[in-house]
Amino acid sequence: MKTFILGRTKEEVERLVPENQIKTVRLGEEKICLSRVGNAYFAFERTCPHRKADLANGFINKFQEVICPLHQYRFNLVTGRCHQSNCQDLKLFKNEITPEGLKIYI
Ligand code: FES
Repeated sequence: MKTFILGRTKEEVERLVPENQIKTVRLGEEKICLSRVGNAYFAFERTCPHRKADLANGFINKFQEVICPLHQYRFNLVTGRCHQSNCQDLKLFKNEITPEGLKIYI
């Protein structure tokens, strides 16, 4: 497991990851999505487990879910669970906001 740090302060991370938006970041070999709802940060795989749509083009709703832009499946950003039983869970990456930035564990 590798640890990446985004930003240098909490405030900088808030600017880099505006609330309810989806940002794509490259961490080493991997491109992932980042989102923030209030003070909670979510790091998750970029491609949808259903048919591989780019989740960076999706939406975040008020229930801490990402909605895929292609077929509108919803994935819980806390558990990774999809609301459709025929779909695999979304891969999540552990992260932690610190005074020195957002630590993301890949
Ligand atoms: S590709 Fe994401 S829901 Fe179908």
